[in-house]
Amino acid sequence: MDDDALLAEQMAYYRAGAAEYDRPYAKYEDLQRLLAVVDDLPIVGDVLELACGTGQWTPLLAARARSVTAVDAAAEVLALARARTASPTVQFLEADLFAWQPPRRYDTVFFAFWLSHVPPTRLPDLWNTVAAALAPGGKAIFIDDGPAAAAYEEVLANQPAPASLRRLDDGSQYRIVKVFHDTQTLTDDLTGLGWSVRIRTMAGNFIGIAEPPTTPG
Ligand SMILES: C[S@@+](CC[C@H](N)C(=O)[O-])C[C@H]1O[C@@H](n2cnc3c(N)ncnc32)[C@H](O)[C@@H]1O
Repeated sequence: MDDDALLAEQMAYYRAGAAEYDRPYAKYEDLQRLLAVVDDLPIVGDVLELACGTGQWTPLLAARARSVTAVDAAAEVLALARARTASPTVQFLEADLFAWQPPRRYDTVFFAFWLSHVPPTRLPDLWNTVAAALAPGGKAIFIDDGPAAAAYEEVLANQPAPASLRRLDDGSQYRIVKVFHDTQTLTDDLTGLGWSVRIRTMAGNFIGIAEPPTTPG
């Protein structure tokens, strides 16, 4: 697809920047407060975590779940996530989420700061994959940046998908996909796909809980 090179660059950014990734979590109280939200979310049973990164969320999910399967495409961030989350109930998988299909169903599918990295043209596939991954009665829970976060990004024009420029300590630069979802539009889009969804905001971030369309039995 047109956005293949952009997605490869996004991947390269997270691989090369793994060691720098956790800094904002240590620095910003808003992010620490956001992590604490996990305790108020309906995280139950067997959990699938998409794009787990360095595992900031994984141990918090594991504390509430029967099991966590955490997927990311970058071996470098997965190594940090494994070191952070030594639990027999957590399994890490290295896979490209634009190609991977979940092999089973889960009670909860959780993704933090992944939705904004998915090109809009690929969102219907993402939501179909998430719906197919959910067991009956299961919920998708997603957390991400709202429109206000655009002020802190170098937004790029004329890209195959909404994109921003990110820099690493060594001066290298990478384009990433970055979509600042407006919660009303996201709610309308998901509702149009047959999902039931509630999205709330918290200090520039949003937290969504959604149930997929029920398939006729
Ligand atoms: C913004 S980070 C989010 C990490 C973690 N969920 C968090 O909230 O801290 C985005 C993650 O997406 C991963 N990623 C990027 N492209 C991917 C792909 N095609 N398949 C799977 N993971 C991917 C990156 O490696 C990175 O860990």
